[in-house]
Amino acid sequence: MHSATAISHPNIAFIKYWGNRDARLRLPANGSISMNLDSLWTRTRVTFDGEFERDKLMINGECIEGTPLTRVSAFLGHVRQMSGINYFALVESTNNFPLGVGLASSASAFAALSLAATAAAGMQLDQRSLSRLARLGSGSACRSIPDGFVEWQAGENDESSFAFSIAPAEHWELTDCIAIISPIHKPVGSTEGHQLADTSPLQSARVSDAPRRLEVCRRAILQRDFETLAKIVELDCHLMHAVMMTSNPPLLYWQPKTLEIILAVQSWRASGIPACYTIDAGPNVHVLCIGEVSEWVTMRLKEIPGVLQVITANPGGATRLIEGEDVPS
Ligand code: PMV
Repeated sequence: MHSATAISHPNIAFIKYWGNRDARLRLPANGSISMNLDSLWTRTRVTFDGEFERDKLMINGECIEGTPLTRVSAFLGHVRQMSGINYFALVESTNNFPLGVGLASSASAFAALSLAATAAAGMQLDQRSLSRLARLGSGSACRSIPDGFVEWQAGENDESSFAFSIAPAEHWELTDCIAIISPIHKPVGSTEGHQLADTSPLQSARVSDAPRRLEVCRRAILQRDFETLAKIVELDCHLMHAVMMTSNPPLLYWQPKTLEIILAVQSWRASGIPACYTIDAGPNVHVLCIGEVSEWVTMRLKEIPGVLQVITANPGGATRLIEGEDVPS
């Protein structure tokens, strides 16, 4: 019996990944930039055992079958192939945040799984190889491997498509105040969504302008320039949702509350509050702000009727191995 446990944070993309050039290898249409979220985590223990007759998946104590198990099993197949281990595995995963509401649970899930599974199989991969492996499970998972503020270079092939840290978590005290307006599992997940991206006539324009947005965003992070960051983050969010809304069939993740929060954040920024918004494949709104105003922003978001909960997170660290039941402090 061989087992290992890893912990990983989900991430919020400032410059989004939407659409693949190669769906099987999850080679993205464009590069992306994100920030890991420290207070949210997935802890995953992987045990390979010669006695097991099939792979088994437990999430938050519940035995999971169907598509999630098939996806995890296919992923474990890569690890078995790389390591030469030919045992089945038990994967036990715990999340401290709701799944499937646009909080990128698949990112921390596959990042933690990559490290726990390879370590349990006796491998010690460097961060680049781990990021490439995590990408095969879920594209955005490759960005949860390195520390803090992270860029995923699109690359040309499996070897060159990986993520690396552009600044450590301590570099900038930003806070993501996540306004949860719907706990409902999203109807169209990102794996299916990526396949629709090319059906939008706007996708080619979004992709061809991506290197410029990446450059502006990277520089804004390095210079801690919030105003520039805010503008590029919101533009990039609008571009991705414009592609989603104009694909065939169209994907409309926003709810009336989503727009209400967008408008509130716009008015706060116009009055000098350093806050901006971004939205993933779900209706919830991530309000990014400078740490100093995070309490004010959280309070104001909670006052909006229909906001069920506000979760806050600061820049988070890299995916790492832990002992037993440890959780991040
Ligand atoms: O990694 P996936 O397949 O869950 O795709 C993530 C897609 C977005 O969250 C909408 C954007 C991103 O870059 O995280």
